[in-house]
Amino acid sequence: MRSHSVIVSRLMRALAPMLGGNPTDWELVGLLHDLDHDLVGDDKARHGPMAAGMLAGRLPEASLRAIRVHDYRTGLRPTTILDRSLIFTDSLSRLIEDQGIRPPCTPSILLNAIREECTSKPWIGENVLVYAGREGIAIWDVVNGVELPNLTPQRPRPAPTRRAPAPRPHLKPATAKRRRRASVERRKPQTSRQLSSRR
Ligand SMILES: [Fe+2]
Ligand SMILES: [Fe+2]
Repeated sequence: MRSHSVIVSRLMRALAPMLGGNPTDWELVGLLHDLDHDLVGDDKARHGPMAAGMLAGRLPEASLRAIRVHDYRTGLRPTTILDRSLIFTDSLSRLIEDQGIRPPCTPSILLNAIREECTSKPWIGENVLVYAGREGIAIWDVVNGVELPNLTPQRPRPAPTRRAPAPRPHLKPATAKRRRRASVERRKPQTSRQLSSRR
């Protein structure tokens, strides 16, 4: 989560001069937007509003608003360029993290990454492409313009270990003896009396 917030803050700082924003304000919005992440638990409708409440009086109202509305599960809608830019960088950061994008990033690398990401998280591609088209942003230039922190690679899950079959319980000596006796009995030539009783 810390790497994610650092990436979002760097993307926000890189975007600000392109869109008439204050680089320091935008960077702080990126850095603090998930401040309540560990506090809201499963109640995602509170994710954003709670962080904005914690930061009230410490950031400009426009910054608080962007943090408040950045998660669609709040039901709040983005209206300003700062609101939309935070949603864009939040999604772009996820794309970078999930797909391991590293500079130099080209349009084709980016497009393939978006295609791959959209198989499980279609909203990421939509957030990134719609914003970039609307604001005329070359996404690969933004990615190449920021220093990305070292991300800890996702650890591959250990392959499930095959459990050795449980050893068959040894026969109890008494059982073994009984079976041996039965097999000897089967092999014994039958007496004429036994044979006659079968007839
Ligand atoms: Fe968030
Ligand atoms: Fe985030």
